Amino acid sequence: MTETTFPRIHAERLLASLQALGQLGALPGGGVNRLALTDADRMSRDWTVQRMRALGMEVHIDAIGNGIAIYPGQEERPPVMMGSHIDTVRTGGLYDGNYGVLAGLEVIATLHDAGLRTRRPLAVAFFTNEEGARFQPDMLGSLVYVGGLPLAEALATQGIDGPTVGEELSRIGYAGPAPVGMPQVDSYVELHIEQGPVLEQQGKQIGIVEGVQGIAWTEFTLEGVSNHAGTTPMAMRHDAGLVASRIAVFARELALRLGGRQLATVGRMEFRPDLVNVVPNQVVFTVDLRNTDDMLLQQAETELRAFAAQAAKAEGVQCRARQLARFAPVAFDPLVVEQVALQAAALGLSTLRLPSGAGHDAQILARVCPAGMIFVPSAGGLSHNVREYTAPQDLAQGAQVLLQVVWQLANRP
Ligand code: GLV
Ligand code: MN
Ligand code: MN
Repeated sequence: MTETTFPRIHAERLLASLQALGQLGALPGGGVNRLALTDADRMSRDWTVQRMRALGMEVHIDAIGNGIAIYPGQEERPPVMMGSHIDTVRTGGLYDGNYGVLAGLEVIATLHDAGLRTRRPLAVAFFTNEEGARFQPDMLGSLVYVGGLPLAEALATQGIDGPTVGEELSRIGYAGPAPVGMPQVDSYVELHIEQGPVLEQQGKQIGIVEGVQGIAWTEFTLEGVSNHAGTTPMAMRHDAGLVASRIAVFARELALRLGGRQLATVGRMEFRPDLVNVVPNQVVFTVDLRNTDDMLLQQAETELRAFAAQAAKAEGVQCRARQLARFAPVAFDPLVVEQVALQAAALGLSTLRLPSGAGHDAQILARVCPAGMIFVPSAGGLSHNVREYTAPQDLAQGAQVLLQVVWQLANRP
């Protein structure tokens, strides 16, 4: 089949599916809250599995709750996989992750309607706990899938609200019977919104993603002494809140000093006892450091830990640091990257080569097969925000590129 005779994806059907999935766990003012393995996540899994089955796909739920649906090919070979995630952050939008899964199903529906089968099978996957907002590390389901994290360790991971991954998987009925790591995949293509401002600012329609930057998440626990805010002289305090605040400011200054692509975010901070008139005795907070250069990322981690230890000591506070996630930068395989470039060009779409700022399951799948990603623009660069938005035309174009890329990959000799 030549580019001109490719079937076209059904844009309205794709948009309607995004809206329908966006109703599950919907927040009153817009956006969704589907933290991994909550009841809302269960609803979105049930809905997605039903849709997969309606397309005649065989659905496998594995022991870490990943859902993998197969659309048979003409030959029995490892499938070309599409996919992403359907969990969200607590204040998420309709597109992060969901778009990659639903566009994958739209590709299958389009081929199904046209009565077409590829040489290799196709697969569409939703991976457990990609976001890492409730359980760390992020990309946990795909990490177990590729053998990067033992299943038992993943199941024992405790969430920020108490229960473990294993307990929650059982509770929502998604501790599946399929062995993890099956099937083996030929290649992996993830379509995703950019989640940043670059494509929009440069007026480009498709992002050819060349890789993903490195990610280091650390949780700090500071233990001081709680005492009366009105009676404790300033010089006699062991204020965990002060130390946490100093480290947060240092993280920002560190990123600015290192410059380039260094990023630093303090996204979570919990004070104890969290009262107006008590010097805080305990603070638990997280620092998210990212860089495309692993050496610089390591430097940032080392400097941050050294500063934290020194700031805690100066205040007479105990400091513990725990690594929650650490992923080195990843370069995607030219097999996929160049196919994305070719198909975007065949469709006459403007493109930009760029790294991904966010973490994605594709960077984990890249450990076991050629993997790559396609980006479409995010309005205002907003994501992990209820106002996340991508224009319908961009969503449709991205899905068409996905169809053509997997068509080529699945039909190669
Ligand atoms: C995943 O969404 C991340 O934090 O990059
Ligand atoms: Mn995502
Ligand atoms: Mn996300």
